[in-house]
Amino acid sequence: MSVARHSSRITIPELVSRKGGEPIAALTAYTAPIARLIDPHVDIVLVGDSLGMVVYGLPSTLGVTLDMMIAHGRAVVGASAHAATVVDMPFGSYQASPAQAFAAAARIMAETGCDAVKLEGGAEMADTVAFLTARGIPVMGHVGLTPQSVNILGGYKARGRDPAEADRIIAGAKVIAAAGAFSIVIEGTIDPVSRAVTAAVAVPTIGIGASAGCDGQVLVIDDVLGLSGDFKPKMARVYADLGPVIANAAQSYAADVKSRRFPGPENVYGLSKTGA
Ligand code: KIV
Repeated sequence: MSVARHSSRITIPELVSRKGGEPIAALTAYTAPIARLIDPHVDIVLVGDSLGMVVYGLPSTLGVTLDMMIAHGRAVVGASAHAATVVDMPFGSYQASPAQAFAAAARIMAETGCDAVKLEGGAEMADTVAFLTARGIPVMGHVGLTPQSVNILGGYKARGRDPAEADRIIAGAKVIAAAGAFSIVIEGTIDPVSRAVTAAVAVPTIGIGASAGCDGQVLVIDDVLGLSGDFKPKMARVYADLGPVIANAAQSYAADVKSRRFPGPENVYGLSKTGA
């Protein structure tokens, strides 16, 4: 399968060199139109498995499949030209063994054309991170609140308040960085622990609900655009409240259809090919 590629993208080594420098701005995208709009402005476009909840209305990310990630990843990579693109490895596609992870990651890389994959976990994922990076697959780690483990964690509360858990998060980040991860997402983790992780690893940390001290930030695009309904996560900021804009547009359209104001003469085809 051939995939459209562009040559002037931010590279993985360029991202690594941003450690402690200009903060890295990342957003998620799941579709071509959104990827096209955000791509010139951000350093990383992440095709997150949050798409399971955001796009498909699933109760968690656990139902997301490799085929779903590949379909959305291909759309996003094809519609972007500047940002580095990272595609999430979905639950069940990498946890069993490094070999299983390689097979899934190789499909994601080959069939989407993305620059890197992301996987969740700390020390238990070190062998897998080393296996993938040694075979040419850049890996972004993800520690702290790891949504694929929601059933173990018991919910989506901030992590790291318990000192033993804080130590585990910091140690896990160090181990996966040492194993070759080029960057690490820290999600839903208290500020001091996020800062400790950032200080402890030589690669950029990307925070979401973590700390202003991280080397970059990522948000879910629907939260940024006010499209998450009544769900208003503390970790996000709404930069454009498009929910009411879209609802008003639908209301105006429906009213125009019902009163026959739409379609107008400019929206219909006549005999003439010139459009009159
Ligand atoms: O799936 C996702 O969108 C993510 C971000 C929250 C980092 O993993």
